[in-house]
Amino acid sequence: MELLHSATFPSKQKLLIVVTIAIALFTIIPLFYPFVEDPNFFLKEQPPTQTSNIKLQNSVVTTHESCDIFSGEWVPNPEAPYYTNTTCWAIHEHQNCMKFGRPDTDFIKWKWKPHGCEDDLPVFDPFRFLEIVRGKTMAFVGDSVSRNHMQSLICLLSQVEYPVDASVKADDYFSRWTYETYNFTIATFWTTHLVKSIEPDHAQPEHADLFDLYLNEVDESWTAEIGDFDYVIISSGHWHYRPSVYYENRTIIGCHYCQLPNITDLTMFYGYRKAFRTAFKAILDSENFNGVIYLQTYAPSHFEGGLWNQGGDCLRKQPYKSNKTQDETTMKFHKIQLEEFWRAEEDAKKKGKRIRLLDTTQAMWLRPDGHPSRYGHMPEANVTLYNDCVHWCLPGPIDNLNDFLLAMLKREEDKGGLAQVRKMLS
Ligand SMILES: *[C@@H]1O[C@H](CO)[C@@H](O)[C@H](O)[C@H]1NC(C)=O
Ligand SMILES: *[C@@H]1O[C@H](CO)[C@@H](O)[C@H](O)[C@H]1NC(C)=O
Ligand SMILES: *[C@@H]1O[C@H](CO)[C@@H](O)[C@H](O)[C@H]1NC(C)=O
Ligand SMILES: *[C@@H]1O[C@H](CO)[C@@H](O)[C@H](O)[C@H]1NC(C)=O
Ligand SMILES: *[C@@H]1O[C@H](CO)[C@@H](O)[C@H](O)[C@H]1NC(C)=O
Ligand SMILES: *[C@@H]1O[C@H](CO)[C@@H](O)[C@H](O)[C@H]1NC(C)=O
Repeated sequence: MELLHSATFPSKQKLLIVVTIAIALFTIIPLFYPFVEDPNFFLKEQPPTQTSNIKLQNSVVTTHESCDIFSGEWVPNPEAPYYTNTTCWAIHEHQNCMKFGRPDTDFIKWKWKPHGCEDDLPVFDPFRFLEIVRGKTMAFVGDSVSRNHMQSLICLLSQVEYPVDASVKADDYFSRWTYETYNFTIATFWTTHLVKSIEPDHAQPEHADLFDLYLNEVDESWTAEIGDFDYVIISSGHWHYRPSVYYENRTIIGCHYCQLPNITDLTMFYGYRKAFRTAFKAILDSENFNGVIYLQTYAPSHFEGGLWNQGGDCLRKQPYKSNKTQDETTMKFHKIQLEEFWRAEEDAKKKGKRIRLLDTTQAMWLRPDGHPSRYGHMPEANVTLYNDCVHWCLPGPIDNLNDFLLAMLKREEDKGGLAQVRKMLS
């Protein structure tokens, strides 16, 4: 994937091969392995009655506005994991690393210690989480990494309850799950680039390998649906590596690695920025949206020793130390996200709307040990992404994103409480 944005391969023919593989990687894999094969999946299985190896913290809110929870270090947590592939049935086949024989388990046993805070970030307390979100709705907007995160949340919550299928359409890319005891609903909205995109059209030779991205038009499959949601968690990343033609106001304004003689290569960073700008604007302009937007920042991949289709792999067994420098693409993606977030935050303040940052790029950058690598399938399987260094094993470091999410929900609750006190006193 890495190579899709850099002109390192010599011939157009080679590009075609690479791009074809990339298309398979991002379209065929999710299609063949939908969230669960059977829509009544959760209804058939009983939630675990015994939570024997699970220790739940009765955690007190210790995350103060003044301390930055996102800058820190991974420290050992011998008590993890809080679920396994036998207690949680929501694990996507390709992320069920223990099933496919991953021999080491240390990668599961870490928690986050923020540098500037007194305490470690509290590990996820599913009871506390469900109390906060009682009667609410939460949307995950993004690609298969977003789905990976959502499934991690379902597994962590499975210590308390399993949701029932509340999908409004028979499409795994747009599923909904309801926790009946808490009247809490999670929904997923599949979007590759956040903005309107048209997949490569093989009937058109000029466009056979290129996405068309309409950078100032929304992807209505999610923007039309999220108006009622209380929390919207937005993420985007890996699809932006794909060669694309960029449109603004229905006119071609440039491209990312299209290799067409008369179109300027603006690089994927141009498209990435515009996609977030358009997405944030769409929600902030929406009259009826009254929830909280969370930007979940880019979760990097960790291919080493080659590109994803050239034998690259992720074989580390331990996190990096916090002084490990990020790769250039991760740094740039992250910088763009922060800049677009701040811009949107200004706009949100003017409009009385709420947008928050789940700034987890650095934490995830430090976890080269958390990907499936070759343990996302049977060893003999003929799969395109043989070494998966993009998604995350479950259980695994993506579970910790929910520690951050809960900390941020608590902050929101505290703010709400404060506002109420102020109102009462005024
Ligand atoms: C769970 O993982 C174990 C190895 O730890 C494996 O033997 C088993 O098949 C897996 N079960 C499921 C349901 O994935
Ligand atoms: C459940 O929550 C929804 C909002 O998410 C609300 O409209 C509905 O009235 C709630 N139902 C009950 C039974 O509280
Ligand atoms: C597209 O249209 C908008 C609004 O009319 C304008 O502000 C913007 O500059 C246009 N973009 C381009 C690339 O022409
Ligand atoms: C680029 O050139 C091709 C062939 O010469 C032409 O069909 C296409 O319309 C041109 N595109 C632009 C944006 O000028
Ligand atoms: C990073 O920190 C570790 C110890 O925490 C140290 O051994 C290593 O040399 C440091 N690396 C750099 C590049 O500073
Ligand atoms: C793997 O699958 C691809 C595409 O389906 C096929 O072309 C190839 O021959 C297969 N390789 C093996 C070793 O089965």
